[in-house]
Amino acid sequence: MSSNLILAPMSGITDYPFRRLVREMGCNLAFTEMVSAEGLLRKGRSFLKIEKDEHPVSVQLFGSDPNILAEAAQVAEGMGADAIDINMGCPAKQVVKTGAGADLMRFPEKVKGILFEVRKKVKSLITIKIRSGWDGEHINAVEISKIAEDCGIDAISIHPRTRVQGFRGQADWSLIGEVKRAVHIPVIGNGDVTTPPLAKKMLEETGCDGVMIGRGALGNPWIFRFKNSEHWGREPAMPPSLEERKNMIHHHFFLIQAHCGEKGAVKTIRKHVYWYTKGFPGCASFHSKLSGLREKNALFEAIHSYFDFVQRRNQCQSFESMENRSVTG
Ligand SMILES: Cc1cc2nc3c(=O)[nH]c(=O)nc-3n(C[C@H](O)[C@H](O)[C@H](O)COP(=O)(O)O)c2cc1C
Repeated sequence: MSSNLILAPMSGITDYPFRRLVREMGCNLAFTEMVSAEGLLRKGRSFLKIEKDEHPVSVQLFGSDPNILAEAAQVAEGMGADAIDINMGCPAKQVVKTGAGADLMRFPEKVKGILFEVRKKVKSLITIKIRSGWDGEHINAVEISKIAEDCGIDAISIHPRTRVQGFRGQADWSLIGEVKRAVHIPVIGNGDVTTPPLAKKMLEETGCDGVMIGRGALGNPWIFRFKNSEHWGREPAMPPSLEERKNMIHHHFFLIQAHCGEKGAVKTIRKHVYWYTKGFPGCASFHSKLSGLREKNALFEAIHSYFDFVQRRNQCQSFESMENRSVTG
């Protein structure tokens, strides 16, 4: 079975350079950051860019007006989107107060109206991304999924937490299984998958057709490197080495720089460097230093000297553990 690991839409993260990076690592389908339907209609190409080398790509739209969403979907399709995803899960206050994102799940009739209009205007694949429901008393993912299927929607991805939960607690994978059993269209599970074995576990436990990965890809594009799900049962033999990580940071930086220039690249790569080095020895002081670095040379000097420090520390530790073994042995 070929890879059905999918990159989740993540605002501020899944820009073109990141999508390109994960594609190079083996990811077959990536979602854009969520794009305002209204903004896309007003600003067009300056609001959304799809490059020739990134197909298939799914453009995620958010909004609450059926006609605006349908028109924006048509625009995105015209710009080269292979699939259009309608965001029905964003929990952010500024989104739900406009009636978009997770707020839509409170109004199944409105969902029907939106999906009916979007389906009329767009020939490409249309998907929706939902949560469990608004809160623990209103879990209606199955109801919304059935509506989507009836409206001719092609697939559903579900992150089984409620809007009220935000990112707290654990994703309730059993709901992914419930949705899968309730509809005949593909269901993509999402939530708390941070390793290939967890992806395999989600597939087996829920019967879902694909696994969508969000936070597990931050600082970790390697998560997509097993193209074949038969290998997901085991962790990669070795986590990426320090050298591989450092090279990935360079590569990631150059992809961003080619896309939006040096200044923007310095600003954007800093948050990724944070994730590439999360949990490393002495990372707290390195991370606080990072935020003050505004110039490319200074940034890379700091990165190199930090990686040298980590390497020296690792060498000392393996030397110490060898000594301990020879003392105890
Ligand atoms: C920084 C960040 C930005 C996100 N932006 C979006 C977004 O634009 N659209 C969306 O549907 N979900 C968004 N999400 C939710 C993810 O797509 C995903 O559903 C969620 O993180 C759970 O999956 P995970 O446990 O694999 O991270 C975002 C999540 C994070 C952490």
